[in-house]
Amino acid sequence: MRNVSASYDSKNLILKNVSMNVKRGTNYAIVGASGSGKSTLLKLMNGMMIPSSGVVLYNYQKPDLKNKEYKKSIAKIGYIPQTLGLVKNTSVLENVLIGALPRLSNFKSFFKMFPKEEIEKAHEVLDLVGLDTKSNRKVHMLSGGEKRRVAIARALMQKPDVLLADEIVSELDSVTAREVMDVIKDAQKKFKLTAIMIHHDMTLALEYANRVAVIQEGDKILEIGVDGDQIIDFQTGNLTQEEILEMYNEPEK
Ligand SMILES: Nc1ncnc2c1ncn2[C@@H]1O[C@H](COP(=O)(O)OP(=O)(O)OP(=O)(O)O)[C@@H](O)[C@H]1O
Ligand SMILES: [Mg+2]
Repeated sequence: MRNVSASYDSKNLILKNVSMNVKRGTNYAIVGASGSGKSTLLKLMNGMMIPSSGVVLYNYQKPDLKNKEYKKSIAKIGYIPQTLGLVKNTSVLENVLIGALPRLSNFKSFFKMFPKEEIEKAHEVLDLVGLDTKSNRKVHMLSGGEKRRVAIARALMQKPDVLLADEIVSELDSVTAREVMDVIKDAQKKFKLTAIMIHHDMTLALEYANRVAVIQEGDKILEIGVDGDQIIDFQTGNLTQEEILEMYNEPEK
């Protein structure tokens, strides 16, 4: 993402000149106070929103829907919105199968006729997220942590290269949040997945991410990571750990 600015009304800039690079296979976290522009960043990454200036490259390719390679690439982005987007009155399995819809013909997709191998694949990903025993349960009867696992399974069903997750663990207690993060970590290993995740909790972000970008009022003010027992400044390379900690204020919970 190079020098990206974004606005919803072509007047107020929600993001200002943000640049970031996410390396393939890594876990990249975005942290910042409420309203700072984190969800907007993810919407720019998955093509739901177009920057007002600057460019978002995916696999080094400029957005161009006429370019088949580009279209293929963006189809490999799995996105879990802040509200999860699950169908609550429907079973876990059916929610997960929704992730396979883009692969079916229009006819099969319309009537939700899922081939046997897709149903097997759905059970496989449910097993991976630790929910296969609850595949027939309605989603509204699940706990918060279990709902997150369903959303992850649905995204994995898409066979993504990149997983974007918007505050997927923010409302969970710290133990459950880490269980869900471990599921993501396992999936990353298994599928060589790149994960870009928004978090509320800096400690948790630093625990799991290779890099953490801090957004403040639409600016990317820091990019940090842990090396051994030190927090390193990857944005300018100039800040000491003490200066980083001084600059970063824990966002309101
Ligand atoms: N669809 C929209 N139309 C107009 N303004 C919007 C829209 N979505 C977000 N905004 C505004 O853009 C700013 C950034 O919103 P965004 O959702 O990116 O913040 P956030 O960092 O994800 O916040 P939170 O932590 O509360 O989820 C906010 O001031 C918000 O009011
Ligand atoms: Mg948000």
